[in-house]
Amino acid sequence: MTKIIKTVTELQTAVDGKRVGAVFTMGALHQGHAQLIKQCRETVGKDAIVVVTIFVNPTQFENNKDLEKYPRDLASDVEICEQNSADIVFAPTVDEIYPLKTLVKKIEPGEIANILEGASRPGHFAGVATVVNRLLEITKPSVTCFGEKDYQQLTIVREIVKELSIPVEVIGVETVRESDGLAMSSRNMRLSEEERALAPHLYDALNRVKAQLLENHPIEKAISSTIEWMADFPEIELDYLTVLSPSLGKPVPGLARVLVAARIGDVRLIDNIECELAVANV
Ligand code: PAJ
Repeated sequence: MTKIIKTVTELQTAVDGKRVGAVFTMGALHQGHAQLIKQCRETVGKDAIVVVTIFVNPTQFENNKDLEKYPRDLASDVEICEQNSADIVFAPTVDEIYPLKTLVKKIEPGEIANILEGASRPGHFAGVATVVNRLLEITKPSVTCFGEKDYQQLTIVREIVKELSIPVEVIGVETVRESDGLAMSSRNMRLSEEERALAPHLYDALNRVKAQLLENHPIEKAISSTIEWMADFPEIELDYLTVLSPSLGKPVPGLARVLVAARIGDVRLIDNIECELAVANV
């Protein structure tokens, strides 16, 4: 039976002295989140406590409208947590997380917070880093799982955990997709039927870049020809399509990441996949 806890004090008492696995979410849970909970349980062990936090963090939204529009359905979220044998759902109020705003330690992530998603959402990753640090302080997990779907977020979390020497193992979980390849996201439900039909092309674009890299084309060529292919779908408004190193720096031979962001209608979607670079690509 999953227990719902709403206050920091009660949560701290429940996890005190126990081995904890934590999955941080903003709710509107889907099978992507479920996979994180499963992976967390597997890693942390059956005797540990798995905590899923559900908190729509205001400091990572640029405007109040997006914050208000964020889907909230605690009953359905708890059901998904229950099905995946989470022990605790921690669903605090804003005042519980930020009791006296000035007292919560603000975390300023490094330079990688200003590229890709950070470029179009200034302050977003400072909000994410601050709340993740606060949630880590409250739940004190040995293990925490983050989705590769939000690859830049995962990279930033790894960076702050290292920088602040937080004793937690951060596990990156592979993106869970719909059968047509679209990465699962709470935003997908905001797509119209026509927009939803176009959305898998983002995953196709990533795979096109990857395929061309495998054929030894230079990165610029793989990207420009994929952008040309995307011109057939003018409803997809591309923000970026790029290849970077696993830590989001300059790509070098070896493992790398292809990342994409685009707007379809008024929904912004992101996705990324792993690829391998040869000397001929860079
Ligand atoms: P949210 O968007 O709810 O995502 C919570 C976690 O689920 C993140 O680690 C995200 O990468 C992962 N996730 C989402 N879709 C996924 C998918 N299709 N496959 C695998 N994992 C997926 O990310 C946040 O919330 C917030 O920024 C948060 C970290 C909770 C801080 O407020």
